[in-house]
Parts: sequence; C-alpha cells; structure tokens
Amino acid sequence: MARFPKGFHWGTATASYQIEGAYQDDGKGESIWDRFAHTPGKIKQGHTGDVSCDSYHRFGEDIALMRAMHQTSYRFSIAWPRIQPDGSGPSNAKGLDYYRRLIDALLAAGIRPFPTLYHWDLPQALEQRGGWPERDTAGRFADYAETVVRALGDRVSHWMIFNEPSIFTVMGYLAGIHAPGRRDPEAFLRATHTVNLAQAEAFRAMRAVRKDAVIGTAFNMSACEPAGDSEADRAAAERWHALVNLWYLETALRGRYPDAFVGGPPLERMGVRAGDLERIRAPLDFIGINLYTRTLVRHHETDTFGLKALAVGPMGGNDGPKTDFGWEVWPKALFDVLMRITHDYGRPVLEVTENGCSYGDGPDAKGVIHDPRRIQFYRGFLQAVAEAIDKGADVRGYHAWTLLDNFEWSEGFEQRFGLAWVDFATGKRTLKESGRWYGQVAAENGFEA
Ligand code: FCB
Repeated sequence: MARFPKGFHWGTATASYQIEGAYQDDGKGESIWDRFAHTPGKIKQGHTGDVSCDSYHRFGEDIALMRAMHQTSYRFSIAWPRIQPDGSGPSNAKGLDYYRRLIDALLAAGIRPFPTLYHWDLPQALEQRGGWPERDTAGRFADYAETVVRALGDRVSHWMIFNEPSIFTVMGYLAGIHAPGRRDPEAFLRATHTVNLAQAEAFRAMRAVRKDAVIGTAFNMSACEPAGDSEADRAAAERWHALVNLWYLETALRGRYPDAFVGGPPLERMGVRAGDLERIRAPLDFIGINLYTRTLVRHHETDTFGLKALAVGPMGGNDGPKTDFGWEVWPKALFDVLMRITHDYGRPVLEVTENGCSYGDGPDAKGVIHDPRRIQFYRGFLQAVAEAIDKGADVRGYHAWTLLDNFEWSEGFEQRFGLAWVDFATGKRTLKESGRWYGQVAAENGFEA
C-alpha cells in the first residue's frame, strides 16, 4: 500500500504559454516566447503557442477534468505580459480578470489555486532592455509580483515565485535552446544573479502586501550521481548538485552561493555588489521540487566557468526504461532528492510541483487512450514520495506534469505529457487511462502497491 497523510494535496501542473493560447487577447503584450516561437527554425515543425489548448477560453473544461480526477490543487502560471503588457507600469484589468475568473472557478470546485508568477514568459519589452542579465529586471519583477498579490491575494493562499530558475537561465541565455535564444556565458552568469535578486525582492514585496501569503519557488532538481567510482567524479557530481539544484535555494535560505565552482563563484562576472548576499536572502515557506530523472556526472577538466563537471548522456542513465522523450525512468531519484533536501535544510516543507513523462499513446478505434507506461511511471514515483514521507520528509502535495498534452517548448506539440489527450485540431480533451488511475489515487489518498 502507498498511503499519504491526511490532507495531502493531489494536483496537476501547467504553464501559461504552454496551454493558454489567446496570445493577443484582451491587451496581452508580447512575451519572449511569442517572439521566439514566431522566429523560423526555433521550434520543431514551426509550432507556436498561439492557440495550443486554448485554456484561456476553455478553462471550464480543464476544471471539469480536474473534478473528474478528484483534484485538490492546481498549479498554473500567470503570464506577466497579460498583467503588464510591456513589463512595467499600470496593470491590465482584463488580464487580471482572466486569472480572477480561473481562480474563482477553482475555488468553487474545491481546488486550491496554486499559481506560479513566472513560468518563463518574460515581456519582450524587458528583453529588449536587457532581459534577465540586466539587474533592473529584478525590480521590475518585484513590482509585478506585488501587483498580482495585491489583486489576487484575497483568494490565493499559496504562491510560487519562479518556475525552474536553473533551467530558464541556462536554456535561455547559455544554451540558446529556449527563449530568448541567447548563447552568451557572461549574460548567463549575470542572469543567475538577477534572478536571485528578483526572487528575494519579490518575496519581500509579496509579504509586505499580505503577511499570511505562503511563498515558495518550484526548483528543477535532479539526483546527481557520479558516473564512475573516482573521487573526482564524486566531487563533480556535488558541484553539479550545487549548480543545478541549489543555485537559487542556498542563496535564499542562507545568503550564500553554493560551492559549484572550483575556486568559488565568479562574483564579479555575475555582477554581485556589496550587500547583495544579504539582499538575495528570502525565508521561503516551502520548497517546490520539479523532478523528472537523475543525472550522471563526471569530472571534466576544461570549461569556461570552473565547474569542471559534465552530465553524461542526455537525460538520466541507461539502467531504467526510457520515455518517448528518451528520459530514463528512475523513481529513486525523487526519493533521494526529497531526503537530501530534508536533511540538508532542516526538514523544510516540500511540495512536488512537477513530475511526469512523455508517451505518445493515442486514442484507439473506440477513442480510449490506453497508456499503461504512464501509469507505471506514476506508480513508481508516487511510491518514492510515500517512502520519503515515511522516512521523515514533510511533503504536502504532488503535482503531475501535466493536466493536458500541450506545447512542450522547443519540442512543439510532439511530446505529450498529459493525463488528458488533446486533439489540437479541435481542442477536444479526453482523459487517458492514466488520468482515470490518477483520479482514483487522489480519491483514495493512496493505492495498492
Ligand atoms: C519542465 C518545465 C515544464 C515542462 C516539463 C516537461 O522543465 O517546467 O514546463 O515543460 O519540464
């Protein structure tokens, strides 16, 4: 039996650009993802999020799916350019109204609204002024955070500031695979520091508006394991852990950059000024963890930063089965990370804010979506969560990525992570068998192992 504590939250997670569509409705401004997706060659098959699942207009159907799955939490994100079309100044009432309607409908359905303030759709106007590498963006973001909490804080209790700060800085400014598509190590280093400043300044601004707001961030994490037996590989895996898992967490909770680089963090290149290490502190109320697989790391002598570590293989190792995206299915990674954060940070409140898998299984002749591998995936990972709770981790909720098949960033619509199938020609949603299974788990607060 995998059993969960009373009141455990069962949810799914989504993100604005991935599901909303309506990219120009009601005064919304352009985001870096609008710009990036409209740039030829950036997204597989030229897909864009212009329409996607059209959840902007069809969120009632989304909530019906959640109800059918006995959900008690829904993690979604707020699109900054709907609220401040060019990233600063007065708010756009129609944008706020949309989220108010969504939140009220969730509350009426008995589902906790669990919004993220930033899931990657920076207003394009701010990118034009330098984007995340530009220090001023931190202040702009704190203003935006304050505006949203002022408008919606009467009906939302739990917030996440960022989604996966490690990923959007690396993919957007270093690897150039995500918006805004830059490949500039110096810009990347500065972006990481601005994001740390932004996280803490937003935290303070939100808290000032509402003393009772419960505030965290959804961090991307991975269990970092040495690829070989050498001491060098072991140390490299620790540095990788520090950079990927802790770069925005150790800063917030302890006011220091973790030991990711041989020779210490390049503070000057990052643009760190006197007093900043105090400024980036924020006593987050919970730690959100997004986790998909593990990472095998080996020592790598030459690199630009002194990280001297490299992940082997694309996503995970080769011992477990692979999803259709090629990511290794390795449930122990989630157990390991939940336990490590529990030990290293004094048993903080945790939420699993994302976990899921991509499989292409579609409707059969009768329209039934038979996706046993996804059920198998969730069984393994939920078992890992139950074990971590048994061993002392304070995990309050679990959010499957994702409710609906949707726009998977540079992969376009090719990778399907949904518990519900979406026919993108019509927008029609159909729960997959995994969705029914997950609904049963939520209803029973556990499952037969
Ligand atoms: C995470 C993102 C999420 C989704 C999943 C598959 O990195 O936060 O938006 O794309 O991966």
